[in-house]
Amino acid sequence: MNQVYENAMRRALELALLGPAWGVNPQVGAVILDASGSIIAEGFHNGAGTPHAEVDALSKLSVVPTGSTAVVTLEPCNHTGKTGPCAQALVDAGVSKVVYAVTDPGQESSGGSSTLKAAGVEVVAGVLEAEGLALVEKWMWFASHGTPWVTLKWASSLDGRAAADDGTSKWISGPESRAESHLRRSNADAILVGTGTVLADDPELTARKPDGSLYSHQPLRVVIGSSTLPEDSRIFNADASTLVLNTHDLDSVLSTLGSQGVKELWVEGGPTVASKFVASGLVNEYLVYLAPKVLGGSRVALQDVGVGSMPASIDLRFESVTRLGDDILIRARGK
Ligand SMILES: NC(=O)c1ccc[n+]([C@@H]2O[C@H](COP(=O)([O-])OP(=O)(O)OC[C@H]3O[C@@H](n4cnc5c(N)ncnc54)[C@H](OP(=O)(O)O)[C@@H]3O)[C@@H](O)[C@H]2O)c1
Repeated sequence: MNQVYENAMRRALELALLGPAWGVNPQVGAVILDASGSIIAEGFHNGAGTPHAEVDALSKLSVVPTGSTAVVTLEPCNHTGKTGPCAQALVDAGVSKVVYAVTDPGQESSGGSSTLKAAGVEVVAGVLEAEGLALVEKWMWFASHGTPWVTLKWASSLDGRAAADDGTSKWISGPESRAESHLRRSNADAILVGTGTVLADDPELTARKPDGSLYSHQPLRVVIGSSTLPEDSRIFNADASTLVLNTHDLDSVLSTLGSQGVKELWVEGGPTVASKFVASGLVNEYLVYLAPKVLGGSRVALQDVGVGSMPASIDLRFESVTRLGDDILIRARGK
């Protein structure tokens, strides 16, 4: 039966991705198996206030057959929030067994497996746990720290320049890179830049499809710094909300955003602000779009990050390297 559970969990992991990556809730998927191990219902969580994945799957069945198993990417919750506790819903539905990937670390929501076991439901934990953890790691970070997961993104020339010497930076990267980064933006809760980028580039900081239309979800636009920004700056247009924080204190920026439910923050530069995030040890993940151009000059992607010698370097590992048209996207993380 182990292979059956693994296959079912892979399907549940796929289903989880149908729910939104943004918002304060995790992406969760679930399938219900009958006694022979065949999938008879599927569900996923579609964001705060909507049914949890297990309940969504159960809702597709008029009767849950005897001997059914629920396979869920996250331990069924045990608390009543905007929806009822999933562990009790599974007990009430008469499910015989629950298989899950990741134990819920939430202070309020955890304990679902105890409720299930107390009601006589067999529980199997840790099936495809690594894949399940990868799915919810940003949510887990946010749940345990109360501040957003920080992804630092920049586009640079092969020699690490974020702009040409005259300040022009459009377009360092190619159309495929830009399309990919806009899709990623559409999954983030917020995008942050410093005042320097707004004053130099007047960016919209919206998530747009290749045809220019807006994605249905727009991240909050955040600008930090003390300079006065022109009222007609494009970040103040009606396409998304914008928050200007007149501060250089990055910890307070992250606390403010965390208290507003920002689970993942994209830091998009420019070099001054990006360097401060790196120097402060606040970056969880790097996304670097590297273009086959050489620019030379002084406009480097990162400035002083507090590393004065090779032994003090910030050591990373490459998680993935992806070809995007003529460019390369590198995802890197701390070791
Ligand atoms: N290639 C890329 O991916 C990319 C991305 C973005 C920008 N760029 C380029 O970068 C250039 C702009 O660079 P930039 O470094 O001036 O932009 P920036 O990092 O967006 O803005 C710098 C400004 O942010 C404010 N600030 C906020 N928090 C700060 C902190 N903790 N420490 C220091 N300053 C803080 C300061 O202004 P106040 O005086 O107002 O406080 C500072 O002058 C443009 O040429 C743009 O095209 C390239």
